[in-house]
Amino acid sequence: MKALRLACFLLAGLVASAQPLELLSERSSDGDLEVVGGFSGGRTNGFIPRAQLMNLPSVTVTNRNDLEVHRPLVYTGIPLDDLFGLLPLAPGIDLVTAVCRDKYAAVYPKDYRQRHQPLLVLKLDGKDYADWPSTPSGARMAPFYISYGKFVADPKLTAADVEEEARIPFAVVTLRFDRFADTLGRLQLTNATGATRDGETIALGQCLACHFSGASGGRLSGKPWLVLAAWAKAEPDLFQKYVRNPRQVEPTSRMPGFPNYQAPALSSLQKYFSAYLVQSVGEP
Ligand code: HEC
Repeated sequence: MKALRLACFLLAGLVASAQPLELLSERSSDGDLEVVGGFSGGRTNGFIPRAQLMNLPSVTVTNRNDLEVHRPLVYTGIPLDDLFGLLPLAPGIDLVTAVCRDKYAAVYPKDYRQRHQPLLVLKLDGKDYADWPSTPSGARMAPFYISYGKFVADPKLTAADVEEEARIPFAVVTLRFDRFADTLGRLQLTNATGATRDGETIALGQCLACHFSGASGGRLSGKPWLVLAAWAKAEPDLFQKYVRNPRQVEPTSRMPGFPNYQAPALSSLQKYFSAYLVQSVGEP
Protein backbone atom coordinates (compact mmCIF):
# COMPACT_ATOMS: atom_id res chain seq x y z
CA MET A 1 0.00 0.00 0.00
CA LYS A 2 1.68 3.20 -1.18
CA ALA A 3 -0.57 5.67 0.59
CA LEU A 4 1.07 7.65 3.31
CA ARG A 5 -0.37 6.86 6.69
CA LEU A 6 -0.67 10.20 8.40
CA ALA A 7 -2.51 9.07 11.44
CA CYS A 8 -3.41 5.91 13.18
CA PHE A 9 -6.12 6.13 15.77
CA LEU A 10 -6.19 3.53 18.48
CA LEU A 11 -9.70 3.49 19.73
CA ALA A 12 -10.68 2.74 23.24
CA GLY A 13 -13.76 0.60 23.66
CA LEU A 14 -13.41 -1.41 20.46
CA VAL A 15 -13.90 -5.11 20.80
CA ALA A 16 -10.69 -7.09 20.84
CA SER A 17 -11.19 -8.60 17.36
CA ALA A 18 -11.42 -5.20 15.63
CA GLN A 19 -8.35 -3.60 14.11
CA PRO A 20 -7.65 0.01 15.02
CA LEU A 21 -9.28 2.40 12.54
CA GLU A 22 -6.84 4.28 10.35
CA LEU A 23 -7.37 7.40 8.30
CA LEU A 24 -5.16 7.48 5.23
CA SER A 25 -4.31 10.80 3.63
CA GLU A 26 -5.02 9.41 0.15
CA ARG A 27 -7.14 6.70 -1.39
CA SER A 28 -5.56 3.22 -1.47
CA SER A 29 -8.33 1.58 -3.55
CA ASP A 30 -11.73 2.39 -5.04
CA GLY A 31 -13.29 0.49 -2.13
CA ASP A 32 -12.02 2.95 0.48
CA LEU A 33 -14.45 5.25 2.25
CA GLU A 34 -13.70 8.96 2.10
CA VAL A 35 -14.64 10.81 5.28
CA VAL A 36 -14.94 14.59 5.29
CA GLY A 37 -15.85 17.12 7.95
CA GLY A 38 -14.81 18.02 11.44
CA PHE A 39 -12.21 15.73 13.00
CA SER A 40 -10.32 16.35 16.17
CA GLY A 41 -6.96 18.03 15.72
CA GLY A 42 -8.34 20.20 12.89
CA ARG A 43 -8.19 17.45 10.28
CA THR A 44 -10.93 17.75 7.63
CA ASN A 45 -10.66 14.60 5.54
CA GLY A 46 -9.19 11.13 5.18
CA PHE A 47 -9.79 7.66 3.77
CA ILE A 48 -10.68 4.51 5.65
CA PRO A 49 -9.33 1.44 3.88
CA ARG A 50 -12.02 -1.11 3.06
CA ALA A 51 -10.12 -3.82 4.94
CA GLN A 52 -10.31 -1.73 8.12
CA LEU A 53 -14.07 -1.34 7.75
CA MET A 54 -14.46 -5.07 7.17
CA ASN A 55 -12.71 -5.73 10.48
CA LEU A 56 -15.12 -3.61 12.51
CA PRO A 57 -17.99 -5.20 14.40
CA SER A 58 -20.79 -5.58 11.84
CA VAL A 59 -24.40 -6.68 11.75
CA THR A 60 -26.12 -8.85 9.15
CA VAL A 61 -29.79 -8.31 8.35
CA THR A 62 -32.16 -9.48 5.64
CA ASN A 63 -34.34 -6.94 3.87
CA ARG A 64 -37.30 -8.76 2.37
CA ASN A 65 -37.76 -6.23 -0.40
CA ASP A 66 -34.81 -4.00 -1.15
CA LEU A 67 -36.22 -0.71 -2.47
CA GLU A 68 -33.44 -0.27 -5.00
CA VAL A 69 -33.17 -3.70 -6.63
CA HIS A 70 -36.70 -4.90 -5.73
CA ARG A 71 -35.85 -8.30 -4.33
CA PRO A 72 -34.74 -9.69 -0.98
CA LEU A 73 -31.14 -8.83 -0.06
CA VAL A 74 -28.88 -9.72 2.84
CA TYR A 75 -26.80 -6.80 4.08
CA THR A 76 -23.67 -6.96 6.20
CA GLY A 77 -22.59 -3.57 7.43
CA ILE A 78 -22.03 -1.03 10.17
CA PRO A 79 -24.87 1.00 11.72
CA LEU A 80 -24.20 4.64 10.76
CA ASP A 81 -24.56 5.57 14.41
CA ASP A 82 -21.66 3.30 15.37
CA LEU A 83 -19.29 5.26 13.14
CA PHE A 84 -19.64 8.23 15.49
CA GLY A 85 -17.90 6.23 18.21
CA LEU A 86 -15.20 4.91 15.87
CA LEU A 87 -14.02 8.10 14.19
CA PRO A 88 -11.95 10.85 15.82
CA LEU A 89 -14.71 13.47 15.47
CA ALA A 90 -14.58 17.00 16.83
CA PRO A 91 -17.03 17.77 19.67
CA GLY A 92 -20.66 18.38 18.72
CA ILE A 93 -20.57 16.56 15.36
CA ASP A 94 -23.99 14.89 15.12
CA LEU A 95 -24.95 14.81 11.43
CA VAL A 96 -23.75 12.39 8.75
CA THR A 97 -24.40 12.89 5.03
CA ALA A 98 -23.77 10.20 2.43
CA VAL A 99 -22.48 11.68 -0.83
CA CYS A 100 -22.74 9.64 -4.02
CA ARG A 101 -20.51 9.57 -7.09
CA ASP A 102 -23.02 11.77 -8.99
CA LYS A 103 -23.16 14.22 -6.01
CA TYR A 104 -26.61 13.12 -4.90
CA ALA A 105 -26.60 13.23 -1.08
CA ALA A 106 -28.67 11.64 1.68
CA VAL A 107 -28.71 13.33 5.08
CA TYR A 108 -28.97 11.38 8.33
CA PRO A 109 -29.66 13.59 11.36
CA LYS A 110 -29.62 11.92 14.76
CA ASP A 111 -33.41 11.58 15.08
CA TYR A 112 -33.60 9.87 11.66
CA ARG A 113 -30.79 7.48 12.61
CA GLN A 114 -32.53 6.61 15.84
CA ARG A 115 -35.87 5.97 14.12
CA HIS A 116 -34.56 3.85 11.25
CA GLN A 117 -31.07 2.60 12.09
CA PRO A 118 -29.52 3.01 8.65
CA LEU A 119 -26.72 0.60 7.83
CA LEU A 120 -23.55 1.35 5.85
CA VAL A 121 -23.63 -1.78 3.71
CA LEU A 122 -20.25 -3.47 3.08
CA LYS A 123 -21.48 -6.79 1.70
CA LEU A 124 -24.59 -7.60 -0.35
CA ASP A 125 -25.74 -11.21 -0.23
CA GLY A 126 -22.33 -11.99 1.28
CA LYS A 127 -20.53 -10.50 -1.73
CA ASP A 128 -17.76 -7.94 -1.80
CA TYR A 129 -18.38 -4.66 -3.62
CA ALA A 130 -16.67 -5.81 -6.83
CA ASP A 131 -19.46 -8.38 -7.28
CA TRP A 132 -22.45 -6.20 -6.40
CA PRO A 133 -25.43 -6.06 -8.75
CA SER A 134 -26.45 -2.96 -10.69
CA THR A 135 -29.70 -1.12 -10.06
CA PRO A 136 -32.59 -1.90 -12.45
CA SER A 137 -31.60 1.24 -14.41
CA GLY A 138 -28.07 -0.14 -14.84
CA ALA A 139 -26.20 2.04 -12.32
CA ARG A 140 -23.36 0.59 -10.24
CA MET A 141 -24.32 0.25 -6.57
CA ALA A 142 -20.75 -0.10 -5.33
CA PRO A 143 -18.66 0.92 -3.45
CA PHE A 144 -21.12 1.67 -0.60
CA TYR A 145 -24.85 1.50 -0.16
CA ILE A 146 -27.05 2.57 2.75
CA SER A 147 -30.21 0.71 3.62
CA TYR A 148 -32.29 -0.79 6.45
CA GLY A 149 -33.36 -4.19 7.72
CA LYS A 150 -36.89 -2.88 7.33
CA PHE A 151 -37.97 0.70 6.71
CA VAL A 152 -41.19 1.78 8.39
CA ALA A 153 -42.27 5.34 7.55
CA ASP A 154 -43.15 7.33 10.66
CA PRO A 155 -46.85 8.31 10.29
CA LYS A 156 -46.28 11.31 12.59
CA LEU A 157 -43.93 12.76 10.00
CA THR A 158 -46.40 12.68 7.16
CA ALA A 159 -46.51 16.26 5.94
CA ALA A 160 -49.12 17.53 3.47
CA ASP A 161 -49.81 13.95 2.32
CA VAL A 162 -46.14 13.22 1.67
CA GLU A 163 -44.87 10.13 3.47
CA GLU A 164 -41.47 9.94 5.08
CA GLU A 165 -39.21 8.27 2.52
CA ALA A 166 -36.40 5.78 2.95
CA ARG A 167 -33.03 7.36 2.17
CA ILE A 168 -31.24 4.64 0.23
CA PRO A 169 -28.31 6.12 -1.67
CA PHE A 170 -26.13 3.82 -3.79
CA ALA A 171 -22.65 4.44 -5.23
CA VAL A 172 -21.83 6.29 -2.01
CA VAL A 173 -18.19 7.43 -2.03
CA THR A 174 -17.97 9.91 0.85
CA LEU A 175 -19.46 10.37 4.30
CA ARG A 176 -19.55 13.96 5.57
CA PHE A 177 -19.65 14.66 9.30
CA ASP A 178 -21.02 18.03 10.44
CA ARG A 179 -22.80 19.79 13.26
CA PHE A 180 -26.52 19.86 12.54
CA ALA A 181 -26.86 23.36 13.98
CA ASP A 182 -24.18 24.74 11.60
CA THR A 183 -25.58 23.12 8.45
CA LEU A 184 -29.11 21.72 8.13
CA GLY A 185 -30.26 23.65 11.18
CA ARG A 186 -29.71 26.87 9.23
CA LEU A 187 -32.31 25.81 6.68
CA GLN A 188 -34.97 25.52 9.36
CA LEU A 189 -37.32 28.43 9.88
CA THR A 190 -37.39 30.01 13.30
CA ASN A 191 -41.15 30.60 13.44
CA ALA A 192 -42.87 28.22 11.04
CA THR A 193 -46.26 26.64 11.69
CA GLY A 194 -48.86 24.67 9.73
CA ALA A 195 -48.30 24.38 5.99
CA THR A 196 -45.00 26.26 6.11
CA ARG A 197 -43.63 23.76 8.64
CA ASP A 198 -44.89 20.87 6.46
CA GLY A 199 -43.06 22.44 3.52
CA GLU A 200 -39.88 22.55 5.61
CA THR A 201 -40.20 18.84 6.40
CA ILE A 202 -40.68 17.96 2.71
CA ALA A 203 -37.90 20.27 1.50
CA LEU A 204 -35.32 18.97 3.99
CA GLY A 205 -36.44 15.38 3.36
CA GLN A 206 -36.64 15.45 -0.45
CA CYS A 207 -35.14 18.50 -2.13
CA LEU A 208 -31.88 18.55 -0.19
CA ALA A 209 -30.73 15.34 -1.90
CA CYS A 210 -29.95 17.29 -5.10
CA HIS A 211 -30.03 20.94 -4.00
CA PHE A 212 -27.47 22.39 -1.65
CA SER A 213 -26.83 25.26 0.70
CA GLY A 214 -23.23 25.75 1.75
CA ALA A 215 -21.97 22.38 3.00
CA SER A 216 -25.52 20.97 3.38
CA GLY A 217 -27.17 18.70 0.85
CA GLY A 218 -26.32 17.37 -2.59
CA ARG A 219 -24.79 19.14 -5.56
CA LEU A 220 -26.26 16.93 -8.27
CA SER A 221 -28.50 19.71 -9.62
CA GLY A 222 -25.92 22.48 -9.34
CA LYS A 223 -28.81 24.72 -8.18
CA PRO A 224 -28.55 26.16 -4.68
CA TRP A 225 -31.30 26.50 -2.08
CA LEU A 226 -31.49 30.28 -2.48
CA VAL A 227 -32.22 29.96 -6.21
CA LEU A 228 -35.18 27.68 -5.40
CA ALA A 229 -36.27 30.14 -2.73
CA ALA A 230 -36.08 33.08 -5.15
CA TRP A 231 -38.24 31.16 -7.70
CA ALA A 232 -40.77 30.24 -5.03
CA LYS A 233 -41.16 33.84 -3.91
CA ALA A 234 -41.16 35.50 -7.35
CA GLU A 235 -43.19 32.91 -9.31
CA PRO A 236 -45.30 30.90 -6.84
CA ASP A 237 -47.44 29.16 -9.48
CA LEU A 238 -44.63 28.40 -11.89
CA PHE A 239 -42.55 27.04 -9.01
CA GLN A 240 -45.28 24.58 -8.04
CA LYS A 241 -45.84 23.53 -11.65
CA TYR A 242 -42.10 22.98 -12.08
CA VAL A 243 -41.75 20.83 -8.96
CA ARG A 244 -44.55 18.57 -10.07
CA ASN A 245 -43.51 18.28 -13.71
CA PRO A 246 -40.31 20.20 -14.58
CA ARG A 247 -40.47 19.49 -18.33
CA GLN A 248 -43.87 21.14 -18.58
CA VAL A 249 -42.14 24.39 -17.68
CA GLU A 250 -38.64 23.77 -19.03
CA PRO A 251 -38.64 21.09 -21.77
CA THR A 252 -34.93 20.32 -21.30
CA SER A 253 -34.98 20.11 -17.49
CA ARG A 254 -32.98 17.22 -16.02
CA MET A 255 -34.98 17.19 -12.78
CA PRO A 256 -37.13 14.04 -12.35
CA GLY A 257 -40.05 15.92 -10.76
CA PHE A 258 -42.67 14.89 -8.20
CA PRO A 259 -45.82 13.98 -10.19
CA ASN A 260 -47.32 12.36 -7.06
CA TYR A 261 -47.37 15.67 -5.15
CA GLN A 262 -50.83 17.15 -4.73
CA ALA A 263 -51.77 20.79 -4.19
CA PRO A 264 -51.18 20.82 -0.38
CA ALA A 265 -47.60 19.51 -0.76
CA LEU A 266 -46.77 21.89 -3.60
CA SER A 267 -48.18 24.94 -1.87
CA SER A 268 -46.50 24.10 1.44
CA LEU A 269 -43.15 23.78 -0.36
CA GLN A 270 -43.74 27.17 -1.98
CA LYS A 271 -44.56 28.66 1.43
CA TYR A 272 -41.44 27.21 3.05
CA PHE A 273 -39.05 28.37 0.32
CA SER A 274 -40.44 31.91 0.18
CA ALA A 275 -40.35 32.17 3.99
CA TYR A 276 -36.76 30.89 3.88
CA LEU A 277 -35.85 33.62 1.39
CA VAL A 278 -37.30 36.29 3.66
CA GLN A 279 -35.56 34.79 6.72
CA SER A 280 -32.15 34.62 5.06
CA VAL A 281 -32.03 37.76 2.92
CA GLY A 282 -34.96 39.85 4.19
CA GLU A 283 -37.96 41.25 2.29
CA PRO A 284 -37.00 42.26 -1.25
C1 HEC B 1 -32.93 13.77 -8.05
C2 HEC B 1 -32.42 15.11 -7.97
C3 HEC B 1 -33.37 16.25 -7.65
C4 HEC B 1 -34.25 16.35 -6.60
C5 HEC B 1 -34.53 15.29 -5.51
C6 HEC B 1 -34.85 17.65 -6.69
N1 HEC B 1 -34.34 18.34 -7.76
FE1 HEC B 1 -34.83 20.23 -8.32
N2 HEC B 1 -33.47 20.12 -9.84
C7 HEC B 1 -32.72 19.02 -10.16
C8 HEC B 1 -31.93 19.32 -11.33
C9 HEC B 1 -30.93 18.35 -12.00
C10 HEC B 1 -32.24 20.64 -11.71
C11 HEC B 1 -31.68 21.42 -12.87
C12 HEC B 1 -32.61 21.18 -14.00
C13 HEC B 1 -32.00 21.59 -15.33
O1 HEC B 1 -31.76 22.80 -15.50
O2 HEC B 1 -31.79 20.71 -16.15
C14 HEC B 1 -33.23 21.11 -10.74
C15 HEC B 1 -33.82 22.37 -10.79
C16 HEC B 1 -34.80 22.83 -9.93
C17 HEC B 1 -35.46 24.11 -10.03
C18 HEC B 1 -35.21 25.16 -11.10
C19 HEC B 1 -34.04 25.99 -10.73
C20 HEC B 1 -33.47 26.71 -11.92
O3 HEC B 1 -32.84 27.75 -11.70
O4 HEC B 1 -33.59 26.23 -13.04
C21 HEC B 1 -36.37 24.17 -9.01
C22 HEC B 1 -37.32 25.33 -8.71
C23 HEC B 1 -36.26 22.94 -8.27
N3 HEC B 1 -35.31 22.16 -8.86
C24 HEC B 1 -37.01 22.64 -7.15
C25 HEC B 1 -36.92 21.43 -6.45
C26 HEC B 1 -37.70 21.14 -5.27
C27 HEC B 1 -38.68 22.09 -4.60
C28 HEC B 1 -37.37 19.88 -4.89
C29 HEC B 1 -37.94 19.06 -3.75
C30 HEC B 1 -39.36 18.85 -3.75
C31 HEC B 1 -36.38 19.39 -5.85
N4 HEC B 1 -36.13 20.36 -6.77
C32 HEC B 1 -35.79 18.12 -5.79
C33 HEC B 1 -32.68 17.82 -9.48
C34 HEC B 1 -33.44 17.52 -8.37
